[in-house]
Amino acid sequence: STLSFVLGTRPEIIKLSPVIRACERRDVPFSIVHTGQHYSEELDSVFFEQLDLPTPDCNLAIGSSTHGEQTGKMVAEIESVLESERPDVVLVQGDTNSVLAGSIAATKMDGIEVGHVEAGLRSFDREMPEEVNRRLADHASDYLFAPTETSQSQLLSEGLSDEWITVTGNTIVDAVQQNVEIAHERSQVLSELDLDGPFALLTAHRAENVDDRDRFAELLDSVANAADEHNLPVVYPIHPRAKKRLSEFGIDVPEAIDVVDPQDFLDFLVLEDEATIVFTDSGGVQEETCILRTPCVTLRDNTERPETVDVGANRIVGVESGDVLTGVNEMLTMEPDWENPFGDGRAAERILGTLGYE
Ligand code: UD1
Ligand code: UDP
Repeated sequence: STLSFVLGTRPEIIKLSPVIRACERRDVPFSIVHTGQHYSEELDSVFFEQLDLPTPDCNLAIGSSTHGEQTGKMVAEIESVLESERPDVVLVQGDTNSVLAGSIAATKMDGIEVGHVEAGLRSFDREMPEEVNRRLADHASDYLFAPTETSQSQLLSEGLSDEWITVTGNTIVDAVQQNVEIAHERSQVLSELDLDGPFALLTAHRAENVDDRDRFAELLDSVANAADEHNLPVVYPIHPRAKKRLSEFGIDVPEAIDVVDPQDFLDFLVLEDEATIVFTDSGGVQEETCILRTPCVTLRDNTERPETVDVGANRIVGVESGDVLTGVNEMLTMEPDWENPFGDGRAAERILGTLGYE
């Protein structure tokens, strides 16, 4: 039987890379359908090169637009590719519009099953596009690869059958384990960014944070203030969505924050590993800091990764200055000796095993 990976954005490329590489090791026949949701080199091809992934068999070049138009175009185009490829299983990962489109297109086709990698995450915030996408993708899927028992329980509570669910761990653990040593060997990022002492790392790109002028400005001020209290310069590899908003809104970035280009995976892993503290609104960054034992404060009002908070690796602080500073102070006074709740780095093997590839 054959597999198709439908993917479209930076986190999907990174988190599916261990599964794609496991297919190559086991000679599992597969194809990669890239939706083209991310197309800038720094969000896309740089990861294929660095993670040594095969070039996608096709790129639908859907690009950016409104949710409905972007998702709708993807559904139609993915259907037409799957019609000619006829895979037995389509795998999608995460919560982007590409995931929603891949799962909808595939579930409606006879003879094609859908597997959702990273199933069962919930922020319970239905204002977020990601929450809508992950719920719908889960309910369209035949195979639910839950990273933790928390996500498994959530799926069961929504009436999804135990038979469809496998607790695999999160493939980000596989990806971190496979790349962190290489990153430290090869990356020159600390000297390139003139980081010769302690520093803080920031990522912020969520629509709810950067599409609102006041909230984005408050977020930056709060981070700069908390970092100043600890004498930490802040490095901010900026996502194109946030970069666009900064210039549209004419926001003056506080002096403590150094805005730099998006980093490749190896450089970013080194930054995460070496940072004194990480400020983020990213899903993947909450997990990676937890795995790497770097303290994290999350600039959101909720998280779909409560495991990171439960083990003590993360505080959910929102964007208000006092709350951000309290979160940083709390995180910096504790020992970073928490457990990794996301598995043992063999998630990709379990996914392929569940699909019958031994
Ligand atoms: C998407 C996901 C988000 C995920 C993020 C990962 C959805 C609804 N959102 O957000 O969950 O966390 O990817 O990074 O699927 N742009 C570029 N180059 C690109 C892609 C986008 O410049 O290659 C700019 C465009 O101005 C575009 C904007 O970024 O309008 C937003 O892109 P979009 O794909 O809509 O969402 P992301 O913010 O990337
Ligand atoms: N990442 C990266 N370079 C950067 C910022 C992030 O390689 O400059 C990686 C990071 O290691 C993680 C993933 O991108 O694996 C997270 O993606 P993003 O924050 O875009 O999306 P989310 O996880 O929030 O959906």
